[in-house]
Amino acid sequence: QTAPDPLITEVQPWAQYLGDGVDVYPYGMPIEFESDVIRRNVPWLTAETASSINFTPIHQLDGIITPNGLCFERHHAGSIELAKEDYRLMINGLVDQPLVFTYADLERFPRENRIYFLECAANSGMEWAGPQLNGAQFTHGMIHNVMYTGVMVKDLLAEAGVKTEGKWLLAEGADASAMTRSVPMDKALEDCMVAFKMNGEALRKEQGYPARLVVPGWEGNMWVKWLRRLEVGDQPWEQREETSKYTDTLEDGRSRKWTWVMDAKSVITSPSPQMPIRHGKGRLVITGVAWSGRGTVSEVHVTTDGGVNWHQARLSGPSLDKSMHRFYYEMDWDGRPMLLQSRAVDSTGYVQPTKDVLRKFRGLNSIYHNNGIQTWAISADGEAENVEIS
Ligand code: MTE
Ligand code: CO
Repeated sequence: QTAPDPLITEVQPWAQYLGDGVDVYPYGMPIEFESDVIRRNVPWLTAETASSINFTPIHQLDGIITPNGLCFERHHAGSIELAKEDYRLMINGLVDQPLVFTYADLERFPRENRIYFLECAANSGMEWAGPQLNGAQFTHGMIHNVMYTGVMVKDLLAEAGVKTEGKWLLAEGADASAMTRSVPMDKALEDCMVAFKMNGEALRKEQGYPARLVVPGWEGNMWVKWLRRLEVGDQPWEQREETSKYTDTLEDGRSRKWTWVMDAKSVITSPSPQMPIRHGKGRLVITGVAWSGRGTVSEVHVTTDGGVNWHQARLSGPSLDKSMHRFYYEMDWDGRPMLLQSRAVDSTGYVQPTKDVLRKFRGLNSIYHNNGIQTWAISADGEAENVEIS
């Protein structure tokens, strides 16, 4: 006979008063007990927060949608305030009729709703030389997955009329960074959007309010926020962000041009360094996320012994093109140390590589496009650590 549990047998404080009435929070916030579920930055990474990055707390989230207030931020010149009334989107260059759209004009084009991940090309970039940051939030948190509402770039371009020589599009932001990226016309016409809503509500200021470019499956840098101009041209512009930045420097010092697509990648979000196992041996839920810029994720494999044996993980939730996928692997933990890894396979058959294989092809000078397999070492006490095994 165990002692009675007062949480069951006693009348608790919260049953002795009336709770908040409606309207206490006209815009709802998470309950105070969840106040540690926040974006975090790594202060030593950058000198200035206006040109910095913070990270989505992926270790604490579930499902596939990133809540708006938790979407990581990456600004090159800070997050600006641009009112809808002051918003203009210009289309110029090799078009029959240069045009300027107001925000209200955009709302009069047919709308689409699409769920896509946005991953910064630099996600996991600090891990090229070896394990550095202790937490999935920091190693893999430059990603969010959101339902966008917006209009198709192809519809806007059709209004202006693209001349036959028009093979490229320059997207330009309105912030002080003057973010500019060249996008091939085929991609722009295929699935690019000008989005003004995220997860049903207006874009957050941090995400480019009132409108941003959505470039599904491609590196986050191209998703220009506070989008103010689309210029049609016959060749790429070779702007700073696509030459000295966002190119991949190889072992011989030469840099690989244009790595647009984000290849298949996955990570176990729990357990992980910020999410140790606190319940001891027995029933254990291992979970994580997987995504591919080339399609859907068809399979995720999980190993608990550093890759000796791989198990099929269970995908749960919508499996959408260029969107995040959620996986689970439920097991009975014997309480012994583990080397946890996950490996994504996408709908093209591509298998997420090990970090060693990536380095064999790319050398050690890279920052961007690190989609190598992540290892967490779990100790008998349930603590997790970022390690690498070869
Ligand atoms: N667009 C503008 N105008 N200014 C910026 O600094 N940062 C880019 C891109 N678009 C940026 C921008 C980078 S590097 C990334 S990874 C994504 O926006 C980040 O989008 P987020 O802040 O919504 O996460
Ligand atoms: Co980026």
